Amino acid sequence: MADRNQTSESPEKKAAGVYAASLVKSGDAVGLGTGSTVAYTIKELGRRIREDKLDIVGVVTSYQSEAIAIEAGVPLTTLAQTPKLTIAIDGADQFDENLCAIKGGGAAHTREKIVSMSAARFIVVSDPAKKVKHLSVSVPIEVMPFGKELVVTSLKELGGSPVLRAAAKKDGPVITDNGNFVVDCAFGEIKNPQELALKLSQIPGAVEHGIFMNVDEVIIGKADGTVEIIQK
Ligand code: 5RP
Repeated sequence: MADRNQTSESPEKKAAGVYAASLVKSGDAVGLGTGSTVAYTIKELGRRIREDKLDIVGVVTSYQSEAIAIEAGVPLTTLAQTPKLTIAIDGADQFDENLCAIKGGGAAHTREKIVSMSAARFIVVSDPAKKVKHLSVSVPIEVMPFGKELVVTSLKELGGSPVLRAAAKKDGPVITDNGNFVVDCAFGEIKNPQELALKLSQIPGAVEHGIFMNVDEVIIGKADGTVEIIQK
């Protein structure tokens, strides 16, 4: 999983993030994901708003993307005001050949799923290392604190190895932007992500899991600044 504290520039993430911003047109309502890759997109959208008079509104998926968008000068709205988005752009922790993705490394996947499912087109921006044959990173699951024990038991019954995500620079668990816990659950190689996604959706107290089946396109950035585009 990505180092969340990474502060150094990544030319691969930058290439993907900046390219994705070029797909946004005036009049678009844009879902703005969370993480270090899509941060490049948000900053580039800010530049296009200032320099190219790009006229858009954004809907953020976290306090982090909200802060970056405000700093970049991207006007923001809400799903209450703009329920249908033209496009959503976001990072991922891993994706397979069918463009099934695992997200939630930044614990923002519940809002990311709501925002991406509200968009007509969902684009993932990535570096090459996240492309795999079979998904294998732990699946983040946002959990209502009241339901933690049932969720953990249910995940073990599904053959997973759940671990409550610990906070950095705070004792105890991560608390999401929605006030919940996150459980990261390893399942080994996930051969049938659709089936697992359905099972995870049925656990009471599991607010949302990080398996995304709705990716339309992945943009993979390369170190030389070029991109590879994979479409569904
Ligand atoms: C946050 C996410 C991120 O999009 C994902 O973790 C990728 O992050 P990064 O672009 O920093 O590698 O799902 O919940």
